[in-house]
Amino acid sequence: MTTKLSRRSLLEGMLLIGAAGCAAPEAAAAAGDGVKAPADAWQRVRDEFEVSPAWIHMTSFYLDSHPRPVRAAIEALRRELDENPVDAVHEHEDTTPVREAAAAYMGVQADEIALTDSTTMGLALLYLGLPLKAGDEVLTTEHDHYAMHESLRLAAERSGAVVRKIALYERGSDATEAEMAGAIERAITPATRVVAITWVHSSTGVKTPVRAIAEVVARANQGRAPEDRVVCGVDGVHGFGVEDATMADLGCDFFSAGCHKWIFGPRGTGVLWGKAELWPLLRPSIPQFGKEAYEAWLRGQPPPPTNANMMTPGGFHSFEHRWALPAAFAFHRRIGKARVADRIHALNRQCKEGLKGMRHVTLHTPLDDALSAGIICFEVAGMTPEAAVKRLRERKIVASTSPYRTSYARVAPSLLNDEAEVDTVLRAIRALA
Ligand SMILES: Cc1ncc(COP(=O)(O)O)c(C=O)c1O
Repeated sequence: MTTKLSRRSLLEGMLLIGAAGCAAPEAAAAAGDGVKAPADAWQRVRDEFEVSPAWIHMTSFYLDSHPRPVRAAIEALRRELDENPVDAVHEHEDTTPVREAAAAYMGVQADEIALTDSTTMGLALLYLGLPLKAGDEVLTTEHDHYAMHESLRLAAERSGAVVRKIALYERGSDATEAEMAGAIERAITPATRVVAITWVHSSTGVKTPVRAIAEVVARANQGRAPEDRVVCGVDGVHGFGVEDATMADLGCDFFSAGCHKWIFGPRGTGVLWGKAELWPLLRPSIPQFGKEAYEAWLRGQPPPPTNANMMTPGGFHSFEHRWALPAAFAFHRRIGKARVADRIHALNRQCKEGLKGMRHVTLHTPLDDALSAGIICFEVAGMTPEAAVKRLRERKIVASTSPYRTSYARVAPSLLNDEAEVDTVLRAIRALA
């Protein structure tokens, strides 16, 4: 029988579990700024995961494996919920600690964050929540994910707005920052109310210049009345947990990301961040279960004004997962965001340079670190992406195909991999010739 933990002691416990379980990340961070972590420190980071060693996992961008501190936090909370669900919910109903952990990682305020279950949920809440109307234009690109395109389609269907999709580049491997920002700049019209982009395209591996695009949007907004302003929303999921960037670095207005990919958070968790002054623009789609909103309903009064908290969907959730999310941010912060970014970029560079040298391979992801992150898309001459992925599976390598109209084979070296695994993957792809 376990004793019930108070919220504070539970969080402290989670941090202790993290500290014990995270000797590995700390070792990775121990070398000091600007100095590479010793190789065995990365091995110890890998040891925090229970992924099967029988496989080389090149798909942790798809759905994560929980590292030890996250598993331990979920388990402690699950036990607490199973012992006394009502008391556990009352104990943890204030999600400030979860939002504070996300905020510290993102460099923002906790009250600017709505908690979601996924990138998809955040995108739908955002775009369906915007006050669009007939005649408005929503500008997006051809390279974004189904979740983005469908959220925009649903929002347009309800409001009468029109969705316009443009290409940011012809070939991913040749994309440039100026070309991508320029394409958005040229496409914004007086009717544009939304610029909806994706930080890292899972269709090509291209990392878009979010900052430059946000600046284009800011210029377009100069002189516009508040009701005519363009809102810049970002599907950030494949940069979140990879890049060493804050929301201020990105400069966008809203940012949605699931935490169950590169962040290694509990499955079914995510965040929607927005600038404090822009939240009142939105209308919630799902009732929130907070005290203030509930009391307003009990008194027959109008709901409180929209803010990030009001946009957090209510109803009961997979609570042990949501409340355990701080353990994932702590895991990243203990290693260090810069070190995580350096490591993922180094492994991806090694992989792309190897692929670039293969005559039977066409690389669709730029080599440049500024234009790519942790996803690599490629084609093998004379072979469908499915066939290439199948052949890699025969060699115990888990790769994937990109689920887009034009599909490529994909590998995504991450903290779950090392240089030797990248070499093995390169040998296997070389053997596909
Ligand atoms: C660019 C992009 N956005 C959104 C999603 C969906 O993410 P989630 O499962 O967090 O909704 C994916 C892939 O799963 C994706 O590749």
